[in-house]
Amino acid sequence: MLADTDRIFTNIYGMYDRSLAGARKRGLWDDTAGILGRGRDKIIEEMKASGLRGRGGAGFPTGLKWSFMPKGSDGRPHYLVVNADESEPGTCKDREIMRHDPHTLIEGCLVAGFAMGAHTAYIYLRGEYIREREALQIAIDEAYDAGLIGPNACGSGWDFDIYLHHGAGAYICGEETALLESLEGRKGMPRLKPPFPANTGLYGCPTTVNNVESIAVAPTILRRGAGWFAGIGRPNNVGTKLFAMSGHVNRPCVVEEAMGITMRELIDKHGGGVRGGWDNLKAIIPGGASCPVLPAEQCADAIMDFDGMRELKSSLGTACMIVMDKNTDVVKAIWRLSKFFKHESCGQCTPCREGTGWMMRVMDRLVTGEAEVEEIDMLLSVTKQVEGHTICALGDAAAWPIQGLIRHFRNEIEDRIKYKKTGRVSAVAAE
Ligand SMILES: Cc1cc2nc3c(=O)[nH]c(=O)nc-3n(C[C@H](O)[C@H](O)[C@H](O)COP(=O)(O)O)c2cc1C
Ligand code: SF4
Repeated sequence: MLADTDRIFTNIYGMYDRSLAGARKRGLWDDTAGILGRGRDKIIEEMKASGLRGRGGAGFPTGLKWSFMPKGSDGRPHYLVVNADESEPGTCKDREIMRHDPHTLIEGCLVAGFAMGAHTAYIYLRGEYIREREALQIAIDEAYDAGLIGPNACGSGWDFDIYLHHGAGAYICGEETALLESLEGRKGMPRLKPPFPANTGLYGCPTTVNNVESIAVAPTILRRGAGWFAGIGRPNNVGTKLFAMSGHVNRPCVVEEAMGITMRELIDKHGGGVRGGWDNLKAIIPGGASCPVLPAEQCADAIMDFDGMRELKSSLGTACMIVMDKNTDVVKAIWRLSKFFKHESCGQCTPCREGTGWMMRVMDRLVTGEAEVEEIDMLLSVTKQVEGHTICALGDAAAWPIQGLIRHFRNEIEDRIKYKKTGRVSAVAAE
């Protein structure tokens, strides 16, 4: 279990004072000017050495991403954009940072913005996050009043402004280029890449988009040193991480833990165990709706980090688990996700626009059993035609949960179809 002294988010449960005074008492904003004084290159090198990988889902190395920003300005401003859209079903970790520990993010914006030559940061907030917006705005105002941001931020000579922007509640606006479109006042439709945001991002200027958690952990990493962060977890999968669990656990929660902890340890130690005991577990979706579901037998020893989940043909995603016990109709649960992805498709590319609807309609029938067994493979083949053939990863996100379902619960789907036709329970097994 992660030692309390290794926690970055010391007020994630909101038990202490979240104001600037409280944040300072917990060690935030401690010699931020000294960090900036190290210069851009040293900060980026330290972030690279820390091994931090993006906490928004894709796991791209954060220091490397920052290094893609042009070294000097060609006259265009540079922008830092923080992705606080957090709309992936089951994902609820960034909101705890914004509600209870907002100064981690504000200080992170300054450090990250400085490292990429940006004088301006935009925080793009999910439409529904009203309380989070209020908490952040108070923290931003406090930081301005104390001279921590604004002109000559922290006395560093660097001018830095932070603006909050509220989205209107569309999942697709979490995709980084759709987010930039939305920030510019247009419909949230993902852009074709290249050009990448580091070259042509917000208003056509060099831009880096990072997840809330990726930015919020940066100041502590820089204060405590890359070696400390890199020493937690397994190589290539390091650091502390906010994990969450919802669904059929006794105590749903968000908790900071060491990368590489097992699913079972997380659920037993922090979630009060599975409802009805571990043997009552049916399946877990590891990190937000787009990650392929894992059956109970793979969950006990499953290692919650990027490689651990990849080895099980799933993905760490946002590390926010959806836990399902044996009462769950897993086919229906995945159908519900298909309906969500169909609803949220922006409709720009044909495989996603048509495919998500097509997949959902087959799933409609698999739930009731009013389908032919052959349709399972047809559905699988459609998921493969959508996956990797779209402008953004929403197409993949719609395909993967269904692939996971068919990989692990094919018998259950077949049983249901046979039962519908014959009226016999477990008709498949009986044949
Ligand atoms: C459909 C879709 C929705 C996404 N939603 C979010 C989101 O809500 N929050 C987030 O941080 N990243 C989201 N992402 C990932 C972002 O595109 C991007 O990779 C991320 O913000 C990069 O930050 P990081 O490098 O710090 O992880 C989404 C991606 C896709 C394809
Ligand atoms: S994959 Fe779907 S959501 Fe993404 S750009 Fe294409 S149509 Fe839009």
